[in-house]
Amino acid sequence: MELRERLDNQWTESAQDWIETDQAVRTGMLDRWMLSALGDVHAKTVIDIGCGEGRFSRLLSRLGATVTGVDITEALIARARALASEGETYLIGNAENLHGIADARFDLAVSYIVLVDLLDYRRAIGEAYRVLRPGGRLVVCNIHPMRSASLHNGWIRQGDKKLFYPLDDYTDEGPREWLWWGRPFINMHRTLAAYISAFLDAGFALRGLHEPTPSDEELAANPGFDDEFRAPNFIIYILEKPTY
Ligand SMILES: C[S@@+](CC[C@H](N)C(=O)[O-])C[C@H]1O[C@@H](n2cnc3c(N)ncnc32)[C@H](O)[C@@H]1O
Repeated sequence: MELRERLDNQWTESAQDWIETDQAVRTGMLDRWMLSALGDVHAKTVIDIGCGEGRFSRLLSRLGATVTGVDITEALIARARALASEGETYLIGNAENLHGIADARFDLAVSYIVLVDLLDYRRAIGEAYRVLRPGGRLVVCNIHPMRSASLHNGWIRQGDKKLFYPLDDYTDEGPREWLWWGRPFINMHRTLAAYISAFLDAGFALRGLHEPTPSDEELAANPGFDDEFRAPNFIIYILEKPTY
């Protein structure tokens, strides 16, 4: 099967697993970083691009935002619609072509671990730019490029002990196949420079860059999060569409 077809469809067969999966790393650490990066969302219009089954969209909605979630996977959008409250709209769509969504329509855009799923990430970044109003902010969380380079290898272990996380083939951008829920899954790897260049080329200003780590309380609740001090799993880019 073509890479494009695999990327566009792989979430369909994994939709139920995703719905049931443990979201501890998001709820227990990343959400805090994402909410801080977004700032006050009350009365803001937000597009959640690659919203999945809508967990983070619902959280933003509860905080007073009006949210439009877009995702390519029909089963996930069906789930999001089933759980939606007033102020939440869910659309089946492709992050690489948000056709039907007007220019400059949103105050904020969110991409919560989605860019690794996309073939044409530059086009998707351009689309996020297009639908944001001038002065609007895009907050992107992604798998850290140091991890996505070697996702298929995982930690090198000695018994239960994690010795180190191998970084290899960093400049070799492209698909990485690994096993998720027992089936082959593809994530796209690109370098840090590739992502930052794509944001800047689209017209965004980079306002912040974070490599999330747990607070003491978060670490006490989830001791496994100590990984993040050794080999960061995630990266958050805070981007702004200029007003000029
Ligand atoms: C890791 S999940 C993240 C879901 C959600 N953002 C969250 O944090 O819970 C990646 C999501 O990207 C979606 N996706 C993959 N390719 C896409 C595309 N081309 N356009 C829109 N969504 C896409 C998948 O369907 C899946 O819901």
